[in-house]
Amino acid sequence: MEPTITNSSPVAGKVHVVEHDGVFTIFLGSEDERVITLTSVRVASLKETLQQLKEVKPKGVIVSGPREDMFAAGADINAIQSIVDPVVGEELGREGQMIFQMIEDLPCTTVAAISGPCVGGGCELSLACDFRIITDHPSSQIGLPETKLGILPGWGGTQRLPRLIGIQQALGIILPGKTLRPKQAKKVGLVHEVVSADAILDRADAIARKKAVPSPHQLPLLDRLLTFTSLGRYFVKQKSEAMLMKETKGNYPAQPAALNAVLLGLKKGTKVGYPHEAAELGRLLVTPESRALVNLFFLAEGAKKLGKGGKDELKTLHTFVVGAGVMGAGVASVLAQKSFPVILKDTSQEALEHGKTHIKKGLTKKKYLSSEDVASVLNRVECTTGELPTFTKANFVVEAIVENMEVKKKVLSELAGKISPDAIICSNTSSLSISELAEGIPNPGRVAGMHFFNPVEKMPLVEIIRGKHTDDKTVVIIAALTTKLGKFPIIVEDVPGFLVNRILTPYLNEAGALLTEGYDMLDIDRAAVKFGMPMGPVRLLDEVGLDVAKHVSKVMVDGYGERMASKNLVDKLVEKKMLGKKSGMGFYDYSGAEELPNPQLRELLGLEKKREVGDRQHIIDRLTLALVNEGIRCLDEGVAGIPGKEAAAQIDLGTVMGTGFPPFRGGLIAFAQSLTPKTILQKLKHLEKECGERFAPHSGIVQRAEQNKSFYEAVQQH
Ligand code: NAI
Repeated sequence: MEPTITNSSPVAGKVHVVEHDGVFTIFLGSEDERVITLTSVRVASLKETLQQLKEVKPKGVIVSGPREDMFAAGADINAIQSIVDPVVGEELGREGQMIFQMIEDLPCTTVAAISGPCVGGGCELSLACDFRIITDHPSSQIGLPETKLGILPGWGGTQRLPRLIGIQQALGIILPGKTLRPKQAKKVGLVHEVVSADAILDRADAIARKKAVPSPHQLPLLDRLLTFTSLGRYFVKQKSEAMLMKETKGNYPAQPAALNAVLLGLKKGTKVGYPHEAAELGRLLVTPESRALVNLFFLAEGAKKLGKGGKDELKTLHTFVVGAGVMGAGVASVLAQKSFPVILKDTSQEALEHGKTHIKKGLTKKKYLSSEDVASVLNRVECTTGELPTFTKANFVVEAIVENMEVKKKVLSELAGKISPDAIICSNTSSLSISELAEGIPNPGRVAGMHFFNPVEKMPLVEIIRGKHTDDKTVVIIAALTTKLGKFPIIVEDVPGFLVNRILTPYLNEAGALLTEGYDMLDIDRAAVKFGMPMGPVRLLDEVGLDVAKHVSKVMVDGYGERMASKNLVDKLVEKKMLGKKSGMGFYDYSGAEELPNPQLRELLGLEKKREVGDRQHIIDRLTLALVNEGIRCLDEGVAGIPGKEAAAQIDLGTVMGTGFPPFRGGLIAFAQSLTPKTILQKLKHLEKECGERFAPHSGIVQRAEQNKSFYEAVQQH
């Protein structure tokens, strides 16, 4: 009997094959599947297809996604989450490796025709092909983001990639979990060609038939030496280990494991490398770090769904940003980058010029944008100090002017009279009441907070503040816009400090308390960094700006009383016009090449004599328990979401994305739960005795400890 291919028509969840004159194209899914993940069912159908293809002796094989905006988004993360046994994880790795090896072993030319995301397992699949060509479609990207989930590429990625593009470039992708845009991918040799979406299948066909041969990527001599000699690899190992320690402080096991897998494979060959890679995949899959990162992945996906019902409104959005300062310019920039028309208004031409320069500077730093791209983003921003004919089109306002209730109210109510009566009006205020701001604005249901963080271009979180008048539709549209901007929304009640600044305040205050007790600020900051924070609390105060911190502190004390009171160190520095990084001097001195402690600090602040750091854990406990105590209060008060799992999810996401809380700890509530309510209670009681009432455990912690409940369960509030 003639060998045949059985799956030649599209079936959701499986691959299918189309033949054209001896060349077979494997489509990884059907057109109506939104995302192609490599589920066990899909991978099994790929295996069966490859077995059949081997028999039919094709002239060539092409692997393609079903649409121009989708190749394959990687492994099925639900399946990953369900693995609790490392042996099962290892088996998953071996099976994937074996199937991709079948592609490599096909006795014909194989071409990955990539359009859309080709990441994780999808990228590893493409690496098993002889050639990779990619389209210049905006959604096209290729890379290996596995370490972001606390695992390593386990389907051959750590073995094939360094051989293809050299160890340095490969580690530059694998260790940080990077994905590359088409041009960058071509530059490093990860793909052979970048083509248009219309042309890709024809081009792939020509290559598969050997009618066209893309020029191979030549590894430069230095890369060959670094990759294929033991001395070269020794050098790369030393450098990479030092870099990893600096960046991860030893908190992320996946990165060193990936580095070792790459090095071992190059040293001993793939026969040793592949099994090692699979075993490491199994081991990493069940680490608490991976669990936490996978959980965060799902929380982030969940946040994207908040704006589901608001997408249609985005099609006709005309945005209006008031205030071209640090925040307004940042907001205008991210809006214009996503193709929204923007009116940017300020009171003076000078302020507008400042804003424009800010936008331009940010854009030119993005290497993947051409000068035409930069120009077209800038063209989308109409700057004005007065009124424009386009004013009437504006239907989405983001206000980012001075933090003053009266001024904001005046500006917004004037504006409301000139634009559409149902235009959404958002304020980027970091501390003022949205409910109060909405008073005097007709139709106040459309008023909400849209709290971006500084720097807007980088910070991934947006707090959507629901004032007492804000209607659901408004929240949903803002959430949709936030997601469109590539950021993550959380929905927060209109309480002083909202969620992020409220939780951060006791933490920052505790750093001040430690300072006044004579602890050295470098020790305080180092302890926080060791815990996993991106920077210490003292350094963070400088970054935020001490004038801003002073203002927020006042709002917090007014709102919550004594427990938010600080030691007034910030006020003393503000009096001396030391405002932190922006003024060149704060707790640190930024005048030199490297930031150093402000030499006058002890004298200026009247601090006690320097105290030996002694037990670093004591500093960590004080900082983190200050966070936890306030975080659980927010959880129980429903500051972000309904108390229980929903609120915990928002707080975990909010703390990781907004405060830099270490992702490998899964967020503040996940961290608290990992310690257990009982331990938290014990530690807080101890600190209350030692440091004072501010550490008095919140009642929700006491109840959970006594009733043996978790932080994911709601408790009755007294
Ligand atoms: P900024 O001082 O850099 O910019 C404010 C801009 O608004 C200035 O260019 C000013 O000329 C302009 N402005 C003042 N009155 C105006 C009016 N009537 N019409 C048009 N423009 C006017 O201030 P920044 O830092 O950008 O803050 C703006 C808002 O964002 C504030 O509400 C602040 O609380 C909030 N925010 C600030 C963050 C930060 O880290 N800077 C973080 C999150 C929120």
